[in-house]
Amino acid sequence: MATRRLGIVMYGVTGRMGLNQHLVRSIVAIRQQGGVALPNGDRVMPDPILVGRNAEKVAALARDYGIERSTTDLDAALKNPGDEVFFDAATTQMRADLLTRAIQAGKHVYCEKPVADSLDKAVAVAKLAKLAKIKNGVVQDKLFLPGLRKIKMLRDSGFFGRMFAVRGEFGYWVFEGDWGQPAQRPSWNYKKAEGGGIILDMLCHWRYVFDNLFGKVQAVSCLGATHIPSRVDEQGKTYKADADDAAYTTFQLEGGVIAHMNSSWDVRVRRDDLVTFQVDGTHGSAVAGLTKCWTQHRVNTPRPVWNPDVPQTMDFFSQWEEVPENFVYENGFKIQWENFIRHVVADTPWHHGLIEGVKGVQLAELGLKSWAERRWIDVPELKI
Ligand SMILES: NC(=O)c1ccc[n+]([C@@H]2O[C@H](COP(=O)([O-])OP(=O)(O)OC[C@H]3O[C@@H](n4cnc5c(N)ncnc54)[C@H](O)[C@@H]3O)[C@@H](O)[C@H]2O)c1
Repeated sequence: MATRRLGIVMYGVTGRMGLNQHLVRSIVAIRQQGGVALPNGDRVMPDPILVGRNAEKVAALARDYGIERSTTDLDAALKNPGDEVFFDAATTQMRADLLTRAIQAGKHVYCEKPVADSLDKAVAVAKLAKLAKIKNGVVQDKLFLPGLRKIKMLRDSGFFGRMFAVRGEFGYWVFEGDWGQPAQRPSWNYKKAEGGGIILDMLCHWRYVFDNLFGKVQAVSCLGATHIPSRVDEQGKTYKADADDAAYTTFQLEGGVIAHMNSSWDVRVRRDDLVTFQVDGTHGSAVAGLTKCWTQHRVNTPRPVWNPDVPQTMDFFSQWEEVPENFVYENGFKIQWENFIRHVVADTPWHHGLIEGVKGVQLAELGLKSWAERRWIDVPELKI
């Protein structure tokens, strides 16, 4: 049994996602467990180089997590043939350019979503990756959430009968920053000019969630809004928040399923989790949060009677049965990293290529168009 090293150039690891999910929960955890096992029993040990603008910050991160290498020089890192993979979790706006540079330098590429801030750029990057014949991938973490894996199991078991509707609620209150509570998301998310906006941010998630679990997305009707037009940034400066911070979106899916998704950074939570999906079918319904999932079968469905004169006697939440935790569900970002590493080194199957990310950007762009033109828009097939 041999252990092989895999050099990975990691960009944007000082950010929220880059640091928590990709560096700490994925790459550092994989190193601590002794690498990734390949089908033939060999192992791969990731050897990252952390790249960022601030030399002290990346050096401190490397020290904190037992990583040998860090630099501010991305070009030099991309030139090093000893590092085969480039990973990006920096801002959305920079992504297409960074991926392009990495592909041109001959790297395999893996990145956060969205793969670009416009469909044209996304298509160009995916084409370049295809021509260069490099391995490529995009993060599709929601597919690995325990709640959605349970939904998939219910679907595959035939639990739903004919599935016909999906209601999704995503969101929470993101503080404005102007009355004693700092915002808990970066300010670029709320500025159009910096690649912000919830439609671009979230519709790329909903695309792969729907395509994979409920039916291919065929059409979209989207109404966006900017409910909070002014916010305070990381430096305490008030700025104009001109990007959409809420989206009320309906999708038509293959098989006649209607999916409605509310995505909002301006909503106070009174539900099971920060994202919930209710799936209704002829034989049963289920509600999934990030980790848990509850079901109600047709034979367990209560018979409520509408009567506004009597306070509600039913406790609706108690009428659902929880899907048991029969497995240990590992962090989804880590599972996807391990799969990508196996794909790069041992050519194992991989279902999250850049083209899947392009579909997400396509849906976001069509959502924005639907909002601007106040109409339903069909989603054409993408050819790369
Ligand atoms: N998969 C998910 O669930 C999920 C969740 C949140 C964000 N994201 C995606 O992850 C990416 C990062 O989001 P985040 O919330 O971590 O953002 P963030 O602002 O916390 O981090 C951005 C990173 O980019 C770096 N950066 C910013 N401007 C730069 C510049 N001009 N030059 C070089 N580096 C620069 C920052 O130093 C930081 O490392 C976005 O594309 C976002 O869409 C994905």
